[in-house]
Amino acid sequence: MPDLAAILADLRVPVVVAPMAGAAGGRLAAAVSAGGGLGMVGVGNVATVDQVRAECGTAAESGQRFGIGLMCWSLPQNPALLDVALESGPTVVSLSFGDPRPYLDAAHDAGAVVVAQVGTRTEAVDALDAGVDGLVVRGSEGGGHGRGVVSTLPLLQQVLDLTDRPVLAGGGVATARGLAAVLAAGASAAWVGTPFAACAESLFRPELKDAVIAADTDQTVYTRVFDIAQRFDWPEIYGGRALANAFTDRWAAHPDVLSESLDDDLTAQIKQARVDADLSLAPVYAGESAGLVDRARTAAEVLADFEPFRDHLRAAQRWT
Ligand SMILES: Cc1cc2nc3c(=O)[nH]c(=O)nc-3n(C[C@H](O)[C@H](O)[C@H](O)COP(=O)(O)O)c2cc1C
Repeated sequence: MPDLAAILADLRVPVVVAPMAGAAGGRLAAAVSAGGGLGMVGVGNVATVDQVRAECGTAAESGQRFGIGLMCWSLPQNPALLDVALESGPTVVSLSFGDPRPYLDAAHDAGAVVVAQVGTRTEAVDALDAGVDGLVVRGSEGGGHGRGVVSTLPLLQQVLDLTDRPVLAGGGVATARGLAAVLAAGASAAWVGTPFAACAESLFRPELKDAVIAADTDQTVYTRVFDIAQRFDWPEIYGGRALANAFTDRWAAHPDVLSESLDDDLTAQIKQARVDADLSLAPVYAGESAGLVDRARTAAEVLADFEPFRDHLRAAQRWT
């Protein structure tokens, strides 16, 4: 089995693309790994075996190292997703949002190292007990699904004192300054979603990328109402951070009322809004760092913009 610390230490830019269902496919994974980071493919709760085979195949054909991120809570609904993902030969497997134990051996037997995203100290202790090879501290400012209770920096400080296994920092890291900050604290790499969701190789529709670029840091909301409306059975502890829109303005403060009053028309409207890219209703999952993404870029340009992290680390040495 490869060694996670060595894999991360080998990166020219210590940035791992967060596995983002609907955004991080094989093309993005290949581009990031070719550019000196580590690419990941996101496998969501509504993914099909054919989609996963195609996206992981694209990543594998690039000849670069890549990773795959799966959602533990939804794997029992479609266990074949794990088999297909592992057949493609990922170097890293992320088992997040649920108990990784049932899938750990299969990932290890396939030759992958395993990480889990954690959003609280308790989740970190549990994942370490389960036997993951590294942790991703994922703060509440992050985009997409996760815990909404602790932000990145407090959780990172806490978890780094818990373990000698590699810890990656996710949630809100979008610039060379942010990367330098988490590396200086002791993270082995950053786990970056939102900036890559908006980049050229992302599977996001152009309208969604433009919306992320236009948004400011205070224009996101952490909520379960998109999942309630679409009747997705995400465990209640996992909400998702998305761009605020007319739908969240109406419902984010009243998830219980939405649950009780939900009818099939609204579910159909939200699903249609996603097809039509009607962003007043559809979710655009993105974190607070949307406000740090201000132009269209390729994955290589996103990585290049992280590169001055070394200057910030050097500047901080005046304190040593
Ligand atoms: C559009 C989008 C989709 C996401 N989908 C997944 C997913 O499928 N699996 C997963 O483990 N995390 C997913 N996440 C969460 C990321 O792994 C990560 O926690 C987050 O992007 C980090 O915060 P940042 O967006 O501020 O960089 C997603 C995030 C975004 C923005």
